[in-house]
Amino acid sequence: MKQSYVSMAIVALSLGISLGSCKKQEPSDLTKESVIPAPVSVTATGGYFTISKNTDIYIKGESEELRQVAQHLADRLKPATGFEMEIIQTSGEPKRGSIFFLLTGDGTNPADESYELAIGKKVMQVSAVNPAGAFRAIQTIRQLLPPEIELSTSGEGPWMVPTGVISDYPDYSYRGMMLDVARHFFSVEEVKRVIDLIAYYKLNVLHLHLTDDQGWRIEIKSWPNLTAHGGSTEVGGGEGGFFTQEQYSDIVKYAHERHITIVPEIDMPGHTNAALASYAELNCDGKARELYTGIKVGFSSLCVRKDVTYKFVDDVIRELSELTPGPYIHIGGDESHSTKTEDYLFFMEKAQEIVSKYGKSVLGWDEIATTRLAEGSVAQFWAKASNAQKAVEQGAKVLFSPAIKTYLDMQYDTTTKLGLHWAAYIEVDDAYDWDPATLVDGVGKDNILGVEAPLWTETITNIDELEYMVFPRLAGIAEIGWTPALKRDWVDYRERLAKHGERLKIMGVDFYQSDRVPWPEPDQQ
Ligand code: ACM
Repeated sequence: MKQSYVSMAIVALSLGISLGSCKKQEPSDLTKESVIPAPVSVTATGGYFTISKNTDIYIKGESEELRQVAQHLADRLKPATGFEMEIIQTSGEPKRGSIFFLLTGDGTNPADESYELAIGKKVMQVSAVNPAGAFRAIQTIRQLLPPEIELSTSGEGPWMVPTGVISDYPDYSYRGMMLDVARHFFSVEEVKRVIDLIAYYKLNVLHLHLTDDQGWRIEIKSWPNLTAHGGSTEVGGGEGGFFTQEQYSDIVKYAHERHITIVPEIDMPGHTNAALASYAELNCDGKARELYTGIKVGFSSLCVRKDVTYKFVDDVIRELSELTPGPYIHIGGDESHSTKTEDYLFFMEKAQEIVSKYGKSVLGWDEIATTRLAEGSVAQFWAKASNAQKAVEQGAKVLFSPAIKTYLDMQYDTTTKLGLHWAAYIEVDDAYDWDPATLVDGVGKDNILGVEAPLWTETITNIDELEYMVFPRLAGIAEIGWTPALKRDWVDYRERLAKHGERLKIMGVDFYQSDRVPWPEPDQQ
């Protein structure tokens, strides 16, 4: 006991010396930190907490998931700090200088992502109802530390965080990004990088657009030609690719460890050329289509009145449901321009029944609201406000992805080389400065499940291009999903975003440096 007091005194002394010789300013005001999404409530107490080589991470209770969250923080902090933090379970008080995680809930509301981060001079304490909230708190801690905390090799420190209390919880329960791996394929490692980046901004869903005219990207064991043939190319004629079920499960697990749900999409009955090329019997004329590598839409349709179509849909949804711990299967439903209206209605009713037979709820693009929606189906508003209204009239929730605000493949302005502009040019302030709850008459906050920003990849061929279109706009969408509307303000946000520039650079993110954001001059960073 005595010895540990002595060693603490030595630590305190050495910290004092190292702080004294440090050029960096001590942080002192928690309310002035640049956290994105902005937390709901922040109170500063004027001191600071330091993570040092003596810092360990304590957890209270037996939760294995909480231990994993604590380990995730230790792993995150190790490369930059060089510190090996131990995870120590305790029923008492943590040691001075440590980080302390505890759960306050009884696990009855797994959707609750709230947390409280109480930073004292002696202990930094995270209290959360669920491990998910503790995981969100980690992102706040990372953003309160100096940007060098994101280095993959040893940084200088000192690793100080201003003291005070943050009480935080999301405004919307669904905060997502969509990645189209059909138009251009992205590897497991690339998808994992996307998961890590969206986790930093407290998103909780990655929607994977797994099938389209140009490619089928998920192995379906009962229909192997979908990937063997349908996965063999992509827009522009590249070699495409697909996820084996094992690889896909690895992605789902990686996301789950970051408290992110994967929503898989099989787009139907249109956007199905890759399937129609793989199996002749899915076509009304019984003839397989050619593979397609262009970017037109609206020309393909499953043969809605054939029985084999529903055997196909049943097999695909069954296998996919078995790989999907999350509640939703997305069945697309957009731009089915070559499906007759009565056939579309017929198909959507049957497809929803199949999804529900496998214990899942349907997500679908806003066109599905023109059909009879099953209990629990959600319409993803991308184009037509009237469809969002139709969904609400049926008592369904709406997921907000208006193309004019959230489509990450839309160009920033007329000089952007990547992307398209059929919906709009979307500058960083356009993506941020809007409110889902007031965008569509008759669709209010209570009707809205959340927000999602899709990245379609007709023109996006690699991870650098992906990052350039996604960042920094996705951070703004994340704040819309998390921070209450009354606390959102572009002028304040752009200052915080400017400070994230250095963080993104250290993470190796090739982001768009909009001139609407006051990025610091390189020598001021
Ligand atoms: C879509 O952009 N076709 C949903």
